[in-house]
Amino acid sequence: MSETIQSIRGMSDVLPEQVPLWDLFEDTARVWLRAYGYRPIRMPLVEKTELFVRSIGEVTDIVEKEMYTFTDLNGESISLRPEGTASCVRAVLEHHLLYNGPQRLCYAGPMFRHEKPQKGRYRQFHQVGVEALGFPGPDVDAEHIVMCARLWNQLGLDRIRLQINTLGTPETRARYRARLVKHLERNLDALDEDSRRRLGSNPLRVLDSKNPAMQSVIDAAPRLYDDLDEASLLHFETLQAILRGLGVEFDINSRLVRGLDYYNHTVFEWITDRLGAQSAVCAGGRYDGLLHQLGGKPAPACGFALGVERVLALMAESGARVREQPPDAYLVHSGVEASRLAWRAAEQMRETGLSIVLHCGGGSFKSQMKKADGSMARFAVIIGDDEAASQRVAVKPLRELGDQVTLSVAEAIGLMRNARGTPHIEP
Ligand code: HAM
Repeated sequence: MSETIQSIRGMSDVLPEQVPLWDLFEDTARVWLRAYGYRPIRMPLVEKTELFVRSIGEVTDIVEKEMYTFTDLNGESISLRPEGTASCVRAVLEHHLLYNGPQRLCYAGPMFRHEKPQKGRYRQFHQVGVEALGFPGPDVDAEHIVMCARLWNQLGLDRIRLQINTLGTPETRARYRARLVKHLERNLDALDEDSRRRLGSNPLRVLDSKNPAMQSVIDAAPRLYDDLDEASLLHFETLQAILRGLGVEFDINSRLVRGLDYYNHTVFEWITDRLGAQSAVCAGGRYDGLLHQLGGKPAPACGFALGVERVLALMAESGARVREQPPDAYLVHSGVEASRLAWRAAEQMRETGLSIVLHCGGGSFKSQMKKADGSMARFAVIIGDDEAASQRVAVKPLRELGDQVTLSVAEAIGLMRNARGTPHIEP
């Protein structure tokens, strides 16, 4: 026998029994996004590699070592999208969406990063992302944070802490960068290889290092806050005032720099201590320079994305249990005439919105009834020679006490539809 083929490491199947939790999340998210006026957009899963290099940044973990990059049959370098912001901005520019004024957009779907898989970290994972383009903020920055808080609340999730920081303007960062590099150079011996490499290219990312041996150097590093200009300070303070006014709690984490290069001003992360090493459930911020950087007219923008698998893990942990929706009936039939009636009756029933599983594959009534029971359907609809002769069907409750009754198809439909309104008794 040949070997079975396994899925790719870090890329998971979502099995039928897991789907109801995904559905619950996706249904909640859809209503939530509408409540804030965000319009869905769908972008391709694959883009020109250059798009991600130019937006996320050449010296970032994602672009340096995590992208699934291929040469396609035309010899062009293309990549599976590692995130949605770059594609969303590309689509907005390509279709001139900002000509119609500022845009509130959202998207959902799989993203791909060749990271080391572990709990909460996958190579194919899903995000729900939100981008507001054409808004200078900080009101819309606050809107993003407030809407996240609302979603956690709706999903019954607590203990997700909010961290915010500001990266100021590119000029702020240039001033800060010079001070930071000086500090890091003075402590060169304490830096690991990765950080030394970043010193010349992306020194702010050194602050993100989780290496315990470097924590004292990081703690002693100068703070970007001290280089902030007045407008940046005002932006950050106004954001905080809106959050305080709405009772949204937050911590300021001056080390929060984010792993993608396009941010300025506000950055934020929602973190949890319940998912082991993978603490970020949702993250985002402002990226006022990105549209221009990608060839568009300059326009301010900000957004965030949440990791669906991480949110689902928190939902499962907090006790969210959703059952698969069983069919209304399993239709058991035997005999040529009976089968003819069964096919017709099943279609009539489905026409009214009922969910009917028609037995396929033949077999005795006894074995079909076993299948009916295993399907978790509320009723078995049974059609044999007698029913075929009278053009009626037998309906047997499978999940609660009650007698089998013989009815016309229309009556059977009425009975099953009525039963939908009454609580389902567990077997
Ligand atoms: P990000 O921080 O790279 O930001 O990802 C956002 C969220 O996606 C993370 O907080 C995490 O929950 C989830 N995530 C990231 N990588 C993985 C993984 N390997 N496995 C499971 N979940 C993961 C962005 O992607 C930005 N585009 C967010 C944004 C939108 N900024 C502005 N607009």
